[in-house]
Amino acid sequence: MRNVNLNTITDGVISANSGLKDARVKTIMESLVRHLHAFAKETNLTSEEWEYGVDFLYRAGQISDENRNEFMILSDALGLSSVVDLNRDAAGSAEVTQSSPLGPFFVSGLPFTDFGHDLGADQSTMPILLQGRILDGDGNPIGGAEIDLWQTDAAGLYDVQYPDRDGYHFRCKQRGLDDGRYQFKTILPKGYVAPTDGPGGDLLLAASRNIWRPGHYHFRIQAAGFRTLVTELFFEGDEHLADDVAFGVRESLVVDPVLRTAEADAQAAGMASPYSEIKFDFSLVAE
Ligand SMILES: [Fe+2]
Repeated sequence: MRNVNLNTITDGVISANSGLKDARVKTIMESLVRHLHAFAKETNLTSEEWEYGVDFLYRAGQISDENRNEFMILSDALGLSSVVDLNRDAAGSAEVTQSSPLGPFFVSGLPFTDFGHDLGADQSTMPILLQGRILDGDGNPIGGAEIDLWQTDAAGLYDVQYPDRDGYHFRCKQRGLDDGRYQFKTILPKGYVAPTDGPGGDLLLAASRNIWRPGHYHFRIQAAGFRTLVTELFFEGDEHLADDVAFGVRESLVVDPVLRTAEADAQAAGMASPYSEIKFDFSLVAE
């Protein structure tokens, strides 16, 4: 292309990418180029602003490592992660559980633990019995689902954020029973702040934004024949339900733990008394 100008460059770049073999990749790249160019034209982006943006992304790469992905933090803070989740939910049935961002702290490949696994309900905070069923869109149980649960501890930290900690803490994988039931013994996760020492933090602080996430359990649920569900559960009364920095809260995912004070309940459940109970059924979309 010899005559590059503001009117020809967008089609020129799209044409240069026409060798892309995968139709979906080609569609995404064409739209990306159109929107990227439109953004720069609409804002009349200057060289200094463009250089700042390139350096911003460079710094995001520099501060990322195996335990911290600054691009995930940016995707969450800019609402992109949730747009992708909401896109996905909009294509499915209203009867199934809504998605919520994976976040930067998921670890794959955990060994299986047993039904009723205790992640640390003996800590000096209210024990939680977290249980329910994995269902299909018609309310029938799905047996044998793989359920990953990960959460912060009472200090608001994930295990991977402790530099010297070995093994898994407040993180496990359980296979649901044949009748769809799952059960964990744990504690309420504490909310936490998005890291502010990188470019994602620069953005949040410059906009005077709340940097807190409300407390939440993360779930990833897989079952043969169903779309994998990545979601979170939040808690009624949390002060950051309305201004989650990652835009992850959906009304249908807010639960209200029920206090159980009867000694007989605690004995039957294998819990210390008193404890709180959360019951939540997850419904998956058939593939
Ligand atoms: Fe999280």
